[in-house]
Amino acid sequence: MKPIPYGRQNITEEDIKNVIETLKSDFLTQGPKIKIFEEAFAQYIGSEYAVAVANGTAALHLCTLALGIQKGDKVITTPITFAASANCVKYTGGEVVFADIDPKTYLLDPVKVENILRAYPKGTFKAIIPVDFAGRSADMFAFQKLANKYGSKIIEDACHAPGGFIKPTEGRKINCGDGQLAEMAIFSFHPVKHIACGEGGMITTNDESLYKKLLLLRTHGITKDPDLLQNNHGAWYYEMQELGYNYRLSDIQAALGTSQLCRAEQGLKRRRTIALRYANAFEKKDYILGQSGFVEGHAYHLYIIEVKDREGLYQHLRKNNIFAQVHYVPVHTMPYYKQFGWENGDFPLAEKFYEHCLSLPMFPTLTEQEQEFVIDCINSYYDQ
Ligand SMILES: Cc1ncc(COP(=O)(O)O)c(C=O)c1O
Repeated sequence: MKPIPYGRQNITEEDIKNVIETLKSDFLTQGPKIKIFEEAFAQYIGSEYAVAVANGTAALHLCTLALGIQKGDKVITTPITFAASANCVKYTGGEVVFADIDPKTYLLDPVKVENILRAYPKGTFKAIIPVDFAGRSADMFAFQKLANKYGSKIIEDACHAPGGFIKPTEGRKINCGDGQLAEMAIFSFHPVKHIACGEGGMITTNDESLYKKLLLLRTHGITKDPDLLQNNHGAWYYEMQELGYNYRLSDIQAALGTSQLCRAEQGLKRRRTIALRYANAFEKKDYILGQSGFVEGHAYHLYIIEVKDREGLYQHLRKNNIFAQVHYVPVHTMPYYKQFGWENGDFPLAEKFYEHCLSLPMFPTLTEQEQEFVIDCINSYYDQ
């Protein structure tokens, strides 16, 4: 059996053709392919606007800037996420406050968040960053209520969840990142994600003023839009109105992203089929302490099991050429964050999850035979 990673991009001949076409065109960096990608992505997610950027981390950074988060401002997020969900607050000089997870969903727990919020005057926390960890929508209704009650804004980190959704009532569907329940949402197009651009990211929003601000911040704070200029010296004239960044995506990457987006639903369907097979295979196993399970609307960037002796299983799988992964080392236990006073033991549920979790191979081109091999290897480790 050839090596089986936990995630893998799927590049087709069509993708390659689209990239080559762009390479032969007049634009390599930001050009016409960006708008095409943004519009197709906004349509897919169901948001009014989308802004393509260099990567998911840049997307998070621009969101914190667009909300005006500054030195000393407090923002809440989960410890079970990639470091970038917290780092974006540090980029602005803000303070990251973590809250523990719900052990059943592995997601930021709104009850724990409210316990923190209510201890401070209204407006103390400038934002909440819920993460649709593994592809499962965060409890966005609860966070929206908290944001309204305590004067915060919401940046939804939907990197794991393009195509994910919740159905609060029959007939109503809320897509992860569609802007109904958050000011902005962000996505990543890193190759292990649903849509691969090499590097790439997207911000979605339904707020026109945030959209315009994000466009400005993406390109150095520079505009050429005649309607926005304070002066105008002629057709060449441009104006830097804010301190922005070069967080542009290239047309080459956008061509790949748009091409990949055409197959997004197909990939999701396959991920959900794989998840169902894992869920059924592990349902009654006594060595399984918890698992992602089969949840409607889950986008299954990751399929996670919680097991006894995770280290032993991880090594056993590696010997069999299966490269499972651990997502994530809790962010508050990172040496960088410990300097701000966070310690092991601060979030017992997140830390217990980290002790037992393992992300199994989950990508659309994983074959049934490969998945059976993974399941057999796990069973044989505990049955020996
Ligand atoms: C939850 C989450 N947020 C943010 C990011 C950052 O995205 P990128 O790697 O595109 O900068 C990632 C990427 O791994 C992620 O998993």
